[in-house]
Amino acid sequence: MRDLADRSDVEELVSGFYRTAFADALIGPIFTEIARMDLERHLPIMCDFWETVLFGTGAYRRNALQAHVDLNALSP
Ligand code: HEM
Repeated sequence: MRDLADRSDVEELVSGFYRTAFADALIGPIFTEIARMDLERHLPIMCDFWETVLFGTGAYRRNALQAHVDLNALSP
C-alpha cells in the first residue's frame, strides 16, 4: 500500500471509511439513525480535516470536539 499523497487519496480513503462505518452493526446506527448524518455535506469537511492533519493545509478551521459533544448529548 502506498502513502497518501494528496486530497484525492484522502477522499478515497475517507469515503471508503464511511461506507464501512455506516454498514457496521455496532457504530453504523450512530451515524445513520442518531446523528442522521448528511454524508454529502460532511465528506468535504472530513477531507479538510484529514488534509490539515496529514499535509498541514490549514483547510479545516472548525471545532471537531463540539460535534461529538453534541452527539454525546443525544447518545452517551
Ligand atoms: C465512533 C466514533 C465516531 C462517531 C460516531 C462520530 C460521529 C460524528 C458525527 C455525527 C459528526 C457530525 C457530522 C455532521 O456534521 O453531520 C462528526 C463530525 C466530525 N468528526 Fe466524528 N465521530 C467519531 C469519531 C471521530 C474521530 C476518531 C475523529 C478524528 C480523529 C472524528 C472527527 C470528526 C470531525 C473532524 C468532524 C467534523 C466536525 C465539524 O467540523 O463539523 N470523529 N463525527
